[in-house]
Amino acid sequence: MKKIVVMGSSNMDFVFTVEEMPKKGETIKSREFQRIPGGKGANQACACGKLGGYCTFLSMVGNDDSGTSLIESLQAAGVRTEKMVKRTDCTTGIAAIQVNAAGDNSIVIVPGANGFCDETYMEASLDVIREAEVILTQLETPESGVFRLIREARKNGKTIILDPAPAPEELPEEILQGLTFLTPNETELGRLTGMPVETEEELIRAAGSLLEKGVKNVIVTIGSRGAILCNETGSRVCPAFSYGKVVDTTAAGDTFNAGLAVGLAEGRDLENAICLANAAAAISVTRKGAQPSIPTIEETNRLILSYTQ
Ligand code: RIB
Repeated sequence: MKKIVVMGSSNMDFVFTVEEMPKKGETIKSREFQRIPGGKGANQACACGKLGGYCTFLSMVGNDDSGTSLIESLQAAGVRTEKMVKRTDCTTGIAAIQVNAAGDNSIVIVPGANGFCDETYMEASLDVIREAEVILTQLETPESGVFRLIREARKNGKTIILDPAPAPEELPEEILQGLTFLTPNETELGRLTGMPVETEEELIRAAGSLLEKGVKNVIVTIGSRGAILCNETGSRVCPAFSYGKVVDTTAAGDTFNAGLAVGLAEGRDLENAICLANAAAAISVTRKGAQPSIPTIEETNRLILSYTQ
């Protein structure tokens, strides 16, 4: 198993379960409230651990109860947390999340300690970055840190997965050039390219524009339909697994990205790695919350096996 480094955000999620999202100017009652460990980076690291990966997480939290709970959740999943930093000058990141009856969410973030995961932090983490083979990151921490990580990883020939969430209007061509994997969902792909993304043909065309800028593989996650893999050999749909009733889609994308990272680190071929990612994500949406919803490798393998028997 090759080593994985995940770099990114850690948030304590304040989750409000609602029937419908509140409309502008409306006050509504929540059916349930929970504090759950989350953050796109921490979810991805947690999922790498639960799926059996050898994963080191680079992130920052505050010196508070939320920071302690996040580190404990990651350690319970088998993630190496020794490079994480507990800061005394700010709080742990917070995400206020509303989840409606269809399992859809809307999220507001307070970055807190995540705002310090910058270039300087990456310089201090070069040893673990250079030791790893697979690097997974997203865009919920400062660009300066993410871009420094990508440049270092590219220089050393690592496999790089960039989940462009939250999506900016564009990414510098210098960053896209040579990126091994970019994994937007449909909305993120539309925002990144400024192109229409309603139909499968439009998704493939938009992904193609990123391939032209030097990305080697674009994997567009398309929710309950699975993912579309686009690269120089063409494009194909990697179908989703159907598992159960969708109750909460929070962290489904994070689980997908981690499944891809673990599959590649294990040496699976690309379509098999995407299969692992799809299966893990399908299970995660049937459970509430971010990190508690992520399945183990045993559960994920059982779902894959049930399809092949
Ligand atoms: O991707 C889901 C995550 O986004 C949540 O856990 C929340 O913390 C936000 O970062």
